[in-house]
Amino acid sequence: MDILLAMSGIDHGRWLAALRAALPSARVRSWQPGDDGPADYLLYWMAPAPSLAERPGLKAVFNLGAGVDALLAIMRAHPEAVTHRVPLLRLEDAGMARQMVEYALYCALRYQRRFDAYEEQAREGVWQPLEPHRTEAFTVGVLGAGQLGLPVARALAAQGYPVRLYSRTPRTVPGIETHAGPDALIRFASGARMLLNLLPDTPATRGILSARVFDVMAEGGHVVNLGRGSHVVEADLLRALDSGRLSRAALDVFHQEPLPPDHPFWRHPRIEVTPHVSALSMVEESVAQIAARIARHEAGEPLQGLDPRRGY
Ligand code: NAP
Ligand code: GLV
Repeated sequence: MDILLAMSGIDHGRWLAALRAALPSARVRSWQPGDDGPADYLLYWMAPAPSLAERPGLKAVFNLGAGVDALLAIMRAHPEAVTHRVPLLRLEDAGMARQMVEYALYCALRYQRRFDAYEEQAREGVWQPLEPHRTEAFTVGVLGAGQLGLPVARALAAQGYPVRLYSRTPRTVPGIETHAGPDALIRFASGARMLLNLLPDTPATRGILSARVFDVMAEGGHVVNLGRGSHVVEADLLRALDSGRLSRAALDVFHQEPLPPDHPFWRHPRIEVTPHVSALSMVEESVAQIAARIARHEAGEPLQGLDPRRGY
């Protein structure tokens, strides 16, 4: 069996070693420009389009991340060059949910206990106790109820925050208020102290974090974007922060990555930037998940690929 690893910007060595250890009978190689040789499985992340060229024997493409937006975009842009005929799979949690939970709890505790404001005060040498936000009144809205959003919502609820969850299709989650569909968005966001986004990037979700939503949140609310940069209308966010409607935003993802050096987000006093690290693809967990799926498929089980038309 041939496994082809096509990824850019990340150290391949650990991935190759883990794949060889998990699939000892497979020939595992790293994609190089010009490689259009046979492969049974292609493992892809942010590599150039030619790595997705039609190739003999291909059974599936694995996306080495949760979001398939970049892969779908490259497939749309290169219909002639890439394979559309095999199942497309993505990482499901694979160690990411725990990281998202950590990021979410950090933000909720930081903003609810007002450590962000104390940090600002400390820079000026100001000793000023502030009125705390009560846990039970610090409503957090989580956009996205999937592999990552749901564990985040549950962890926040376990911490005592009133939690709302927003998804495309209706669902029931004990102890959590649920909302679904575009008509429910404003009700979902109304009065929320913190909104945390874990949606996928699709035509329906782009620009979802806009003035429409910021204007109905609690005065001085917080926005945490861990989904994709495309979800935020940047001008609306800047206006909401500058006017005081929102207190602060923690942003991990951006329209353009890396965030350009002259982008106003870098120097904005109420924006916290992290470089797309809220949940990294963990080598061991990811390889274990992929190897298990390959083993099941090789034993005769069909692969459950995602529907590219749904967009996530
Ligand atoms: P997932 O399991 O596919 O869950 C996606 C959730 O979004 C589902 O609950 C889905 O609703 C909901 N959704 C999709 N379209 C919607 C719409 N139009 N309106 C309302 N809800 C909608 O995805 P996941 O594994 O949790 O990952 C979510 C996203 O996190 C990824 O796509 C990626 O963009 C981002 N991410 C970021 C990082 C990072 O480091 N910053 C790391 C990993 C992932 P249904 O339940 O009704 O289907
Ligand atoms: C990272 O952003 C991912 O989608 O896994």
